Amino acid sequence: MTELLIKDSDLESLNDKVIVITALISSSPRTGGSSGIGLATTQILLSLGAKVVVGDLQCPKDGFSHPNLSFHRTDVTIWKDLVALFNAAKVQHGRIDHVFANAGISYAADYLSTETDENGDLKEPTWICEEVCLKACINTATLGIFHMRPDRGGHGGSIIVTASIAAFTHYRGVDYTASKHGVLGFMRGMHTLLGAAGLPIRINAIAPSWTYSGLVPRELLDVVGVQGQPPEAAARSALILMADGTRTGQLMHSAHERFKEIEESIFASAVLQVIGTDEPTEDEYSLWL
Ligand SMILES: NC(=O)c1ccc[n+]([C@@H]2O[C@H](COP(=O)([O-])OP(=O)(O)OC[C@H]3O[C@@H](n4cnc5c(N)ncnc54)[C@H](O)[C@@H]3O)[C@@H](O)[C@H]2O)c1
Repeated sequence: MTELLIKDSDLESLNDKVIVITALISSSPRTGGSSGIGLATTQILLSLGAKVVVGDLQCPKDGFSHPNLSFHRTDVTIWKDLVALFNAAKVQHGRIDHVFANAGISYAADYLSTETDENGDLKEPTWICEEVCLKACINTATLGIFHMRPDRGGHGGSIIVTASIAAFTHYRGVDYTASKHGVLGFMRGMHTLLGAAGLPIRINAIAPSWTYSGLVPRELLDVVGVQGQPPEAAARSALILMADGTRTGQLMHSAHERFKEIEESIFASAVLQVIGTDEPTEDEYSLWL
């Protein structure tokens, strides 16, 4: 596993590309909407000369506008909102080159709750975290693929899904952990399926560690003595996956502004250690079923 250097020149190919991003402005009242991985990604993309179409619950604050930026009010948990976001991008630019499925919220469910309803039965836990972090991420990626496939008038492209370090670690925010494991699973499955379908669309995931944002305000991390990274670091991990056309099926970890690809370099070899190389893979077996 080698550490990666992401130079500005590595991202130059994003000039003039059209990118759809879910989530730009933090919904956290603590940060006043001034930070976030989506915002940092958008700012770097605009500086590179890319065209960015953003879907988020709320409009950017006054003063954040750019001729290459358009915003569409979108609740990612609502399919028709996502459909409208992608249609708007297609109408405005005629093409979509990359999709960044990034919207997310923190854990919300309490699986140890003893709260009961009027019959004395346990209340169902909330699924809101899975709705935003997993289901909406999958829906965003699925729409992206629909618009980028050549047999639908697209030109191919790439999808980046936002997983997390919680995608492969033990973390007690259970619904968040389950969602992010799901995001990683979606990336792995789709990477295999896209390859088998011969579609010229790549899919990759990012796995940021603590990153200062609306979800994880710097003030909060400072209190517990955790050093996070600026959102620009997580943004760059997503941008290199978009810009480098050779990267597919990868998981880009970022922590303290340092980057490591860990799917091919760690997880793939760990899996081989578990299942061995003599057996057909799960995917090969599935072809025979
Ligand atoms: N900050 C971290 O330490 C960290 C680490 C790993 C992964 N992540 C992931 O990064 C992504 C971005 O989060 P962030 O840390 O930049 O926080 P953030 O709060 O700044 O960004 C989250 C964004 O999601 C948007 N959003 C939430 N619900 C939505 C909905 N229903 N429809 C549309 N937009 C919605 C919010 O408005 C906000 O813009 C999330 O998926 C998060 O899980 C964050």
